[in-house]
Amino acid sequence: MRFFCAPGLPFGSPKGVAENWRISPTAMVAALVVLLCAGLSSPSSGAEFQTLKGHGGPVMDISVSPTNGLVATASFDNSVGVWSGRTPRWLEGHEAAVKVVRFVDGTRIVSAGDDNDLILWDLETGTQNRLEGHTAKVIGLAVSPDRQLIASASWDTRIGLWPVQGGAPVFLEGHTAGVNKIAFSRDGKWLFSASVDGSIKLWKLGENAEKRIIDRNGFGINVMVLGGDKAGSAAWIAYGSQDGVTRIVDLATDERLHDFALERRPILAMALSPDGSRLATGDGHGFITVIDTKTWSIEKDFKAALKGPIWALAFSKDGQVLHAGGIENIVYSWPVADLASYDPMVQETPQFLRKPEDMSNGERQFARKCSICHALTADGGRKAGPTLYKVFGRRAGTLTGYPYSETLAGSDIIWSEETINQLFLDGPDHFIPGSKMPMQRITGSEDRDDLIDFLKTATNAGATGGGTQ
Ligand code: HEC
Repeated sequence: MRFFCAPGLPFGSPKGVAENWRISPTAMVAALVVLLCAGLSSPSSGAEFQTLKGHGGPVMDISVSPTNGLVATASFDNSVGVWSGRTPRWLEGHEAAVKVVRFVDGTRIVSAGDDNDLILWDLETGTQNRLEGHTAKVIGLAVSPDRQLIASASWDTRIGLWPVQGGAPVFLEGHTAGVNKIAFSRDGKWLFSASVDGSIKLWKLGENAEKRIIDRNGFGINVMVLGGDKAGSAAWIAYGSQDGVTRIVDLATDERLHDFALERRPILAMALSPDGSRLATGDGHGFITVIDTKTWSIEKDFKAALKGPIWALAFSKDGQVLHAGGIENIVYSWPVADLASYDPMVQETPQFLRKPEDMSNGERQFARKCSICHALTADGGRKAGPTLYKVFGRRAGTLTGYPYSETLAGSDIIWSEETINQLFLDGPDHFIPGSKMPMQRITGSEDRDDLIDFLKTATNAGATGGGTQ
């Protein structure tokens, strides 16, 4: 596989994180994926359980190349991983969490996320091309069947259409709230969109006009896939919603065919096996449900993550393995044949999920508000922010190897009890305007004091828990 054998090739430099982001530990999940690529073999199921490790933040999306079976992962750590076997190659360029990744063809990948931009990566030449135009985060991407057009779904309520060869984008407007997911019809002439406004819309490409509303749900629609076959076109659309329903709608009649509601909300991930026989969903309670699309019955329903939601799901090229992202920074890959005969995800509880009563207030502040982005150990791992190891006395923006914003790199702040206190009293957006740190204030002075006390010890020793990889 040529260039893939060299992990960690430089692809430009990463920037940090971003956006107004408030941490809700229970919402952080992570997970896993893994491997594949060439034929997985094991006599019983033809596949083995595996994990993909290396990301420094939860895995938000997983995509499998239909041509060569490579796996791509999008992570909260701002990077995209491209996995050949268990060896990652990192694509660095996004300035915030990456929420979605898709293969354009065998050698090109498109990704997008909280920095509002798409990046088109050429794995062969190592180049990256930034596609700018959205004004809010982009969390859905699709590639047309002829691979000439990329469609993007954004929380600016628009759908973007980007010619792969370059050229100006076209934006489709019509949704009244953020667009979460987007899909092309098999002939590439139509586009389906799913939105926070609760509707699934159909658009005619070429005319670039909205044609009809396929379904309206009372709650936002998070995920969707097209499946089945009727004269060469998809026969149905499946969607998963904020209120926990997985619904199948007939595309010829718009009739609702099946509803699966297991009282677990929201549905956050959805994947169809390459042969169309299995529809998998992941939900906010950490369950993966596999539905048999011939009988429309639930084939498997198991708790895949002990804590937190399932955010990402994708079947391997041969359909035998289901890759999932949950609370850890790891992708878990389960053989579909014996799903549920494995232990759930999460081998070691990430710091932000440890029991609050086991921690001092300062450690709890760090665990909840900082640990997703900062390590405390000398080796900072792949996290969105720089390690805070020995941060006291350090001049801002000076850790070698971390791609700071210009603002922080050029700052003359020295980190101390006073300056860190001020940072979270005012919030990074006021204390260092232009920094990549997310807006976040810690209003309780006791909480700030406790956090700083904890940091004073933990950043020197690196021994007090902290930096999980
Ligand atoms: C969502 C990710 C994120 C969270 C959460 C976060 N940070 Fe940061 N932090 C960053 C990024 C990104 C930078 C680098 C900013 C830049 O380059 O402009 C940074 C920089 C810093 C710096 C400056 C380090 C240096 O080398 O100059 C300190 C100190 C810091 N953060 C402390 C904290 C603390 C304490 C918390 C928790 C209360 C926290 N951060 C929460 C992402 C985060």
